[in-house]
Amino acid sequence: ALSGASNIFWHGSQVTAEARCRQAGQQAATVWLTGLSGAGKSTLACALEDRLVASGHPAYVLDGDNLRHHLNSDLGFSPADRQENIRRSAEVARLMNDAGLFVICAFISPLRRDRDMARDLIGANNFLEVHVSTSRKLCEARDPKGLYKKARAGLIPEFTGITAPYEAPLAPALSLDTGALTLNSACELLYQQLARRFV
Ligand code: PPS
Repeated sequence: ALSGASNIFWHGSQVTAEARCRQAGQQAATVWLTGLSGAGKSTLACALEDRLVASGHPAYVLDGDNLRHHLNSDLGFSPADRQENIRRSAEVARLMNDAGLFVICAFISPLRRDRDMARDLIGANNFLEVHVSTSRKLCEARDPKGLYKKARAGLIPEFTGITAPYEAPLAPALSLDTGALTLNSACELLYQQLARRFV
């Protein structure tokens, strides 16, 4: 890796993150949704984005599946590639927070150490870890993209929840089971939690 490269210098800006947030009328933060494929992360992320923007709060969704089409198109699903996926995406979230936006991240992010890295990169004060805790059984029954079926047939290696691990958060700010809650009520719980701390 080229990290720690020499002959590069930091150029600061006169505009501070605080000034950007003041202008946006919010304390920018990242909501980090973690959970199995099919748990409802993307749906919930987009509902929260809609809720925030409708109430005058600039927000943006970073979705694992979507970023893998472009920024992270060179990455697969090995532990090292998932880690790099999370690292890059957390760096983007950090920049967007710096620009004054709420960021809602929807990544399986199956490993605690990778989510801890994201928290460290973004800053613990601006980071809300949320477990979309829908059971594997229900995710597999939903199977919206037919991926569980393929994984069971041995067609997708290292599929989370089947042949690759998922480590549930130990102390999430919130845990939402989309099997037990309507989309609206899950979104509202999330919005209230966010508003209590950051709006
Ligand atoms: S990770 O683990 O955080 O890097 O994954 P993420 O970037 O969120 O991407 C998850 C989506 O990729 C599809 N997919 C897989 N998921 C898990 N394991 C394997 N092997 C795999 N291969 C492809 C799948 O559609 C995930 O989308 P979601 O939205 O989570 O269902």
